[in-house]
Amino acid sequence: MTSHETVSPPTGVLPARFRPPTGSSDARTLSLDGPWRFRLSPTARTGVERSDSGEGWDQIEVPGHWQLAQAPDAWPYGTPAYSNKLFPFPIDPPHVPDENPTGEYRRTVTLPADWPTTGRTSLRFEGVDSWFEVAVNGEVVAVSHGSRLPTEIDLTDVLRPGENLLAVRVTQWSAYSYVEDQDQWWLSGIFRSVTLEHRPEAGIGHAAVTAGYDAASGVGTILVDVEGAAPGTRVSVPELGLNLAPGESASVPVEPWSAERPRLYEVVVTAPGERVVLHAGFRSIAIRDGVFLVNDAPVKLRGVNRHEFDPLRGRTVSPALMEEDVLLMKRHHVNAVRTSHYPPHPHFLDLCDRYGLYVIDENDLETHGFEDERGWEGNPVDDPAWTDVLVDRVTRMVRRDAHHPSIVLWSLGNEAGAGRNIGAMAAAIRALDRTRPIHYEGDWSSDDVDVYSRMYATSEHTALIGQGIEPPLARAEADARRRLMPFLQCEYAHAMGNGPGGLTDYDDLFDAHPRLMGGFIWEWIDHGLSRRDADGTLFSAYGGDFGEAFHDGTFVADGLVLPDRTPSPSLREVAAVFAPVRLDVVPAGDAILVRNRYAFRDTAHVTFAWTLHHGDDVLADGVLDLGALAPGATVTVAPPAGLPLPAADHTPTWWTLRAVQEKADALDAPWFDGRDDAAADGSFVIATGQVAVVPAVALAVPSAAPIRGSVEADGSFTVGSARFDAVGTLLSLGGRRVEGLRVDAWRAPTDNDRRSGMWTGPSDQTVWQESGLHLLAERKISATLDASGALVVEARTAGPRTRNGFRTTYTWTAAADGSVDLRARIVPEGRWDGTVARLGLLLTLAEEHAADVDVTWTGLGPDESYADSRKAAVGGTYRHTVADLGTRYTHPQENGARRGVTHAALRFADGSGLVLDAGPTVYGGVPRAGVELSLRPWSDQALDRAAHPHELVPDGLLHVHLDAAQHGLGSAACGPGVLPNAALHPAPADLTLRFTPSAG
Ligand code: GAL
Repeated sequence: MTSHETVSPPTGVLPARFRPPTGSSDARTLSLDGPWRFRLSPTARTGVERSDSGEGWDQIEVPGHWQLAQAPDAWPYGTPAYSNKLFPFPIDPPHVPDENPTGEYRRTVTLPADWPTTGRTSLRFEGVDSWFEVAVNGEVVAVSHGSRLPTEIDLTDVLRPGENLLAVRVTQWSAYSYVEDQDQWWLSGIFRSVTLEHRPEAGIGHAAVTAGYDAASGVGTILVDVEGAAPGTRVSVPELGLNLAPGESASVPVEPWSAERPRLYEVVVTAPGERVVLHAGFRSIAIRDGVFLVNDAPVKLRGVNRHEFDPLRGRTVSPALMEEDVLLMKRHHVNAVRTSHYPPHPHFLDLCDRYGLYVIDENDLETHGFEDERGWEGNPVDDPAWTDVLVDRVTRMVRRDAHHPSIVLWSLGNEAGAGRNIGAMAAAIRALDRTRPIHYEGDWSSDDVDVYSRMYATSEHTALIGQGIEPPLARAEADARRRLMPFLQCEYAHAMGNGPGGLTDYDDLFDAHPRLMGGFIWEWIDHGLSRRDADGTLFSAYGGDFGEAFHDGTFVADGLVLPDRTPSPSLREVAAVFAPVRLDVVPAGDAILVRNRYAFRDTAHVTFAWTLHHGDDVLADGVLDLGALAPGATVTVAPPAGLPLPAADHTPTWWTLRAVQEKADALDAPWFDGRDDAAADGSFVIATGQVAVVPAVALAVPSAAPIRGSVEADGSFTVGSARFDAVGTLLSLGGRRVEGLRVDAWRAPTDNDRRSGMWTGPSDQTVWQESGLHLLAERKISATLDASGALVVEARTAGPRTRNGFRTTYTWTAAADGSVDLRARIVPEGRWDGTVARLGLLLTLAEEHAADVDVTWTGLGPDESYADSRKAAVGGTYRHTVADLGTRYTHPQENGARRGVTHAALRFADGSGLVLDAGPTVYGGVPRAGVELSLRPWSDQALDRAAHPHELVPDGLLHVHLDAAQHGLGSAACGPGVLPNAALHPAPADLTLRFTPSAG
């Protein structure tokens, strides 16, 4: 038998077979999940006999990772460790360190008395990380690896009546760790289910299902091959009246399968000894003229990369969590999943078939750690010694999964460089399945694949590829071949922390160019593992939180959903950008372009409902009859004539159009029904578009009845309910103590701010630090009452070591109604080269219970939005507490900005209030409605310092940002930075604000 440091395909194992849904075969199975006896040794030489029954050992739950056996409270078997691409051990293939935690698992297996005595019995592992050896009754029967691939072992001749001892030895590190270097936690053990399976005599060993569809005729063709079919085996499709022999094909009219309409037909394979019920979907995948087609229609993949992740159990993911992922994706208009970077648990694919998601099934292969040190030297992907191992991997994937209609592409792996084994794997797949194109990103020459794939290509470059004018490859014939391929961004829009920005820029390109077949956002979920801190508080741990000497920190937290699957605002942005019906304001701003972006559905199921509203005051509503728009159809609609328009004030009046699905049909129902976010009437808003029919006009400042400011005996000033010291520092407002009011231009850097766009140049964070923005302080220059009685304060705000700064004129007036008005003109001074994070005012108010302050605002919402992440933001009136306005990103950073806020009413714990009215704002000469409002119970400095959200403690102050503008988000954590259309360069800003305090 081979060892964990030998490079060879698994031994003693059966060829991989198709995995129909659990329970779909009538053959007997016996689950071996549950408690096993367990002992962890520090090295692979465990000193434990295979015949040792493990009496008195610990118990551990299978499936599971040993590092997480007692998470989140205790870590008796070592801790998880996170590294992205660098191997956490010396590059010395196929060797791994002697320090190699090795789990010895023991379990007694007793075949039930009525277990069939004919046929065979096999033992099946769905996933074991990394290398393992299986012994029965003291004798080794198999050695396997391929952590996310199945292993099946024939035990018929070794099992005896009564008790059998099953012994599994699993090493954490092995030769195969070199080809499983995916960016994720290193976690070990038997992490997917184990079953004993009866393989009946004259049963169904392996079945390959092909169900094609001809869109022109509406005819589907089915063919089911059964390997070594026993005489008498039949294949039937009851709904279609088909009864076929294995290998016999039939063509009949069918309803096709697509992610939009996941129509499945029951296929019953009946052999003399076994019956299996499968679900087939008829569909065709093709590439024609460089365009990716499903059922002959161009389809854009609007996808996400999904790792398997449970914050408590790692890659042991329950069926319920898998379903939660699929439901969340469907409800946010995600139509595709790349199973980065390994074949998922097979149940996940059953769910994709059933709910409708296009899948790229990816091989369990990544050798990224070879890249950095010596440019891929020694890469297994180019080493003949590894060919059989890698071919075995894709073979197991394809044989296990090929019956799933949801799979539209095979992927050879991720970030494994180029080399001869890429071709070998592609050939092996083509020998098994010619119905799906092959994907692999790691070799840009694309010699062995069918689609051209890149990750994190900029939108500029994507536009070139879309037009077919990208820079050529050196080899003319490879270039010509690649130019005929559709283009896929297998990863783009890195969703780390607050972001990604710029999603619409990509999505518009996907729509504009037929060659672009879409992309997959990186990535679905933050892999924050639950852990308790010293006080017992649960938090989401990332790299370094387990004391790893070698780790990649927060880079493991880069998903659209937080570790507990709470959608981050970016998922709602994704939903708005990916929506299959899009409602976009036309450039002139007075009408909405309605686009049906479904490939196969008309809009008969969509109601176009509108309201005319001022904040949440609805003035009129109605429904537009647009007929059933065909796939691809567009129509421009304007607000109806004769609307009861109110007089203009500083808050716009909106005409809001919604594309609403009111009820589900049979194919939608699985994701539509039972939504916890359903509207009261159960409807589902597919998309929203909005026109400001009565734009905001300026607040009248000073108001009609101004009252004069005054100078007190000590030289201090009073303007209405606002008190100032003698240099013009605001001390209180409506009796509430003011801790500070100054210009601000910094934010707690996001993960995107911290890194350089496309890995070049300084990060935004560095630029801002060099401008001293994180240490701004204000110097008052003068404070005087002008002739009208307004207090005019001149000030300069700047950071250390620079001459650059901001010169501000604050003009304070008050009115008889108790309101205090402020006009602030902020002018950048000096030589500014780079961007600023924001530009506006930071007002800090004393408030013991700042997190509980209740806020009702009119502006964009309900979620945070930023200049390049605002498709989901809709104008209206919304309400939250300050605590709920914030997003608890796994790694704390800037969050919670609400844009276009023209009115906000704050209610403090003592019942007193403060109403803020704003607008318009002018930035760089361009007017904008309202301000960008952020409210926090802690400072941006504290936000920046915190490593985890639970470390943030309210500081007794309410920190109010009233910004004229804020910098976009970009995707620089991995990819392009903020695009010019959302970058904030310093420019003169005018803010117009009214504060109306009220007593408690
Ligand atoms: C890609 C890689 C992913 C992940 C991502 C960054 O290069 O394929 O696995 O590491 O970058 O989060």
